[in-house]
Amino acid sequence: MFPIPFVEEVIDRRTKPGQTVIDPFCGRGTAPFIAMVNGRRAVGCDINPVAWLYARTKTDPHPDLKEVSSRITEVWESVKSEDEKPEHDFQKLAFCGNVLAFIRAAKRTLDWRESRLDRTVTTLMTQHLHDKLGRGLSNQMRHSRAMSPNYSVKWWKRNGYDKAPEIDPREFLTKRAQWRYARGIPLPSVTERPDVLLGDASESLPDSALPANLVLTSPPYSGVTNYRSDNWLRLWAIGEGPSKPDWSPEQKFLDIDKYVHMLRKVFEATKARALDDATWYIRSDARAKTRDAITSVLKELLPDHRLKEKQAPYRSKTQTALYGDHRPKPGEIDLIYTH
Ligand SMILES: C[S@@+](CC[C@H](N)C(=O)[O-])C[C@H]1O[C@@H](n2cnc3c(N)ncnc32)[C@H](O)[C@@H]1O
Repeated sequence: MFPIPFVEEVIDRRTKPGQTVIDPFCGRGTAPFIAMVNGRRAVGCDINPVAWLYARTKTDPHPDLKEVSSRITEVWESVKSEDEKPEHDFQKLAFCGNVLAFIRAAKRTLDWRESRLDRTVTTLMTQHLHDKLGRGLSNQMRHSRAMSPNYSVKWWKRNGYDKAPEIDPREFLTKRAQWRYARGIPLPSVTERPDVLLGDASESLPDSALPANLVLTSPPYSGVTNYRSDNWLRLWAIGEGPSKPDWSPEQKFLDIDKYVHMLRKVFEATKARALDDATWYIRSDARAKTRDAITSVLKELLPDHRLKEKQAPYRSKTQTALYGDHRPKPGEIDLIYTH
């Protein structure tokens, strides 16, 4: 995810209030969200349903805590007895019967694509689906990404987590909702809410009333992250994936020709929605594969722009640095195209 101070600084320096920011690979919607709360218009898009769910709820949550709590109760009341039966060992060790039943009822009941209320409840459930023991709905798990089912089962058994924790999902999620709403929900300051669409940005990027002054984005990095496998459990919980993951390498963008083709299509669609003299601010993996793919496509698409590169250092220690390897890492680089 983009660090919030980074997005604030770029939007503040590169746009004026009322102007438009576009992020074709908006992930969890950091850029549209920060644009909105700072009085900018924004459009965004993401192909991953979990990312889109977060982005939409972040920029347009249901305003009423009471209705959110009632909807959580409605889901709980729609549980059927067969909902608590696990399909396999992973489900049995990951979630207690009540949690599994709640997830299944939510999948059946909540129309997160169309209803803002249902989207808000689905987002709450998805955000807390897996985490450290006691912090989420699951047995001990990472919050950032779900490991493979077989690995997880072996790890739980080996480390003494051989029973899923007993949790009342209605009470748990209602408390989380209360905590969130007590901190306040974001309101657009002057402009309207960002338009964030679910789909491939080469086809689904929304049209804005005003062409963008700033393109601020971070494409998937070639060969680094597979957004679908990392999110397999959340995708299953919202009805967008199987109960055991497929590790399709497609989303890892290993084939460089396909990667460049995808970037070109998305950036062409972005260019069609941006001013000719828009600034393009792209955060990229500093490694040659991703960086060269991006710069080769943008050299063609933005022949009259000037490119400035800025090293974007890691803000926190990398895994290897924690183990004593302090050599510089390739890290990330900002590619800034100005007219
Ligand atoms: C590096 S992440 C962006 C993270 C984002 N800046 C944030 O703050 O959350 C790249 C995103 O691009 C999305 N993506 C990959 N291919 C896409 C496509 N063709 N159209 C739209 N989004 C795509 C992935 O699902 C992923 O969420």
